Amino acid sequence: MWEIFILLILSAVAFFITDELIPNLTDLFVKAGLFGIDLCKTSKKKIPEAIGVVSGCVFLITSFLFIPIVFGNGLMDTQHFPHNEFAELLAGLLSICCMLLLGFADDVLDLRWRYKLLLPTVASLPLLVVYYVNFNSTTFVVPIPLRQWLGVSINIGVLYYIYMGMLAVFCTNAINILAGINGLEVGQSVVIAFSIVIFDIIELRGDQYKAHTFSLHIMIPYLATTLALLKHNWYPSKVFVGDTFCYVSGMTFAVVAILSHFSKTVLLFFLPQIINFLYSVPQLFHIIPCPRHRLPKYSEETDLLHASRTIIAKKEMTALTKLILRVLTMLRLIDKTEDNESITINNMTLINLFLIKLGPIPEVQLTTWLMAFQIVCTCVAFVIRYPLASYFYDS
Ligand code: UD1
Ligand code: MG
Repeated sequence: MWEIFILLILSAVAFFITDELIPNLTDLFVKAGLFGIDLCKTSKKKIPEAIGVVSGCVFLITSFLFIPIVFGNGLMDTQHFPHNEFAELLAGLLSICCMLLLGFADDVLDLRWRYKLLLPTVASLPLLVVYYVNFNSTTFVVPIPLRQWLGVSINIGVLYYIYMGMLAVFCTNAINILAGINGLEVGQSVVIAFSIVIFDIIELRGDQYKAHTFSLHIMIPYLATTLALLKHNWYPSKVFVGDTFCYVSGMTFAVVAILSHFSKTVLLFFLPQIINFLYSVPQLFHIIPCPRHRLPKYSEETDLLHASRTIIAKKEMTALTKLILRVLTMLRLIDKTEDNESITINNMTLINLFLIKLGPIPEVQLTTWLMAFQIVCTCVAFVIRYPLASYFYDS
């Protein structure tokens, strides 16, 4: 356990370094052309973009420094060096490092959506290889009510690897599309990271304590550097985190989910992101027009945010578009206005859904509401994971 205390000290140092570095590096980013305009403000100031690369680098360096500490005993006694655990940590860090590089490339080059799906798949390969070598367990336990038909467990073989690859793609992109207001990308990641840390601490007493210690080794430095980033990205944002941050975060969560074997629990912590993704599907697959930015619309007169909108030309509407609109209207999940030629609806994101339900509100209030929702979902996740899970699984 002593290594966790050293990691806590290293992470505290990492927090202060990140906090110090960010304001010092902002000019460099703006000079290099890496900046964005805050679309929800009156001022059109250049705000440095892709600052996630700073917190990401400090996170990785902290993790690298930690390697000789956690494997210190093994280094003294090379005969009994835990090669498997070492390979796991290295593969995890390699995948995160890969994502940092590819995410930064995306911020600099503004890649197209198909590459955003390809990049995490490629970056997750080291992870899948080490999973194959160390565990290669592709069976999943069937919930008790379904066992009379399916048996106690099912081996899904290669499908399990496809599931893990898709998990990495989902985690990275799900955070990136629940974004656009100050502090939201980082805020949601902090809540998810805290949830994972709490879950690890609870499980440290169980027989999976090794997997949960591994997860803590990754999550603690991640959380420290991300909290420093949040300080600068919170309303009013002095820096934007860029896709770099979303990719690094998503991949970090995927690494612990896969290598610590609790992907279902991590997915429970992603409930708001899953809801946002499902709600976004019609726009992501262009069944309904999807503008470049779906973030809320800022009103200069009132300083409030309104739901942003997309226009669907009636003559271009397919049967599927009509069906989706009818179902969503019935469920009261869209705000729709109509004239002879077109239908106007809100862009389908959780952020806009909050705005159509709560009315126009200030940006900081909206971020706070969404973070509160994320916290409520974590509580729901714990209820599903503990009291409810006993109805579906043996232990
Ligand atoms: C994703 C979303 C897009 C959303 C954007 C906002 C999908 C399919 N894509 O695209 O709808 O508009 O994120 O990040 O859902 N920005 C702000 N305030 C903020 C954060 C960002 O105004 O607090 C703006 C800035 O102009 C910044 C830009 O968003 O430069 C960054 O957008 P980017 O990350 O490139 O968008 P995508 O990830 O492609
Ligand atoms: Mg983005």
